[in-house]
Amino acid sequence: MPDLNALIDAARDAMGNAYAPYSNFSVGAAILGPSGQIFAGANVENAAYPQGQCAETSAIGAMILGGDRAIREIVVMGGKPGDGLLCTPCGGCRQRLREFAAPNTPIHVCGPEGLRRTFTLAELLPHSFGPDNLDF
Ligand code: THU
Repeated sequence: MPDLNALIDAARDAMGNAYAPYSNFSVGAAILGPSGQIFAGANVENAAYPQGQCAETSAIGAMILGGDRAIREIVVMGGKPGDGLLCTPCGGCRQRLREFAAPNTPIHVCGPEGLRRTFTLAELLPHSFGPDNLDF
């Protein structure tokens, strides 16, 4: 199984490939799936601003394409080295992650220099609505 450093490296590579000409804020994400594969993604912005896509959403798409259906852990990386800020997933991405993650799934929030803080999904999205609400 890849370790956290492998996930961080994958997120950093993805961040380097982000398409963020409007915000100039590149984000990378890397998901570890149950198969042991790593699925990375970057934000993809658009001249029609609301059509932009977050890094987490890109990574989820890569995971589905790769055949995995669960998130064991995820790294999200954004910001400048040492800026001390937390690039936590936006509200919409918290819900998208929830579809494939468990309440105790770790979400590692990183800067380019490495890990800043780890949250569980339940910390970021308490009392969430999910597939079980629809009997799935
Ligand atoms: N963004 C992400 O990709 N993930 C996050 O966790 C926070 C924000 C992107 C969206 C947009 O392209 C840019 O960062 C600035 O909001």
